[in-house]
Amino acid sequence: MRSDLARLIAGALAIVVVAVAVAAVALWADRRDRVRHESDAAAGGVGARAIPIMTANGCSGCHTIPGVPGAQGQVGPRLDASLAGRVIIGGVLANNPENLIRWIRGAREINPHTAMPSTRVTEQQARDIAAYLYALK
Ligand code: HEC
Repeated sequence: MRSDLARLIAGALAIVVVAVAVAAVALWADRRDRVRHESDAAAGGVGARAIPIMTANGCSGCHTIPGVPGAQGQVGPRLDASLAGRVIIGGVLANNPENLIRWIRGAREINPHTAMPSTRVTEQQARDIAAYLYALK
């Protein structure tokens, strides 16, 4: 009798634990989708297109970027969750989507002394990259 009750309680607890875990994953996925959507809107790009653009344009060789295969460069700063919260980017620009896009396209035109080359990606590609980077937060 007692062991039946114990089994019943254990079963009920297991169901609660699973339900909480499922809810947590759903909330996390919700937040992630919302952040991606907001970043796409702010940058006027599609972050989901950015990974091959970054790989093809050498970003990975100089920067460590979460989610980009092989991007473990140490030349420039890490482009990770902290980027969205930085006040200044590239040492000289206020951190906002338009400046980030300008920087990604033409770092040398903005700061002739920077070690980052002007990448010459198109404006739309820079927007896609900016959307991706801001969504890492
Ligand atoms: C040859 C190495 C090199 C390449 C290639 C390169 N970067 Fe950079 N990047 C740097 C360096 C060095 C800095 C720091 C610049 C400074 O502060 O003067 C930097 C800075 C940045 C910043 C500003 C970060 C901050 O917090 O100040 C962003 C964003 C960035 N790079 C994105 C990119 C993207 C996207 C690409 C590819 C399209 C790319 N970089 C390619 C070297 C590089």
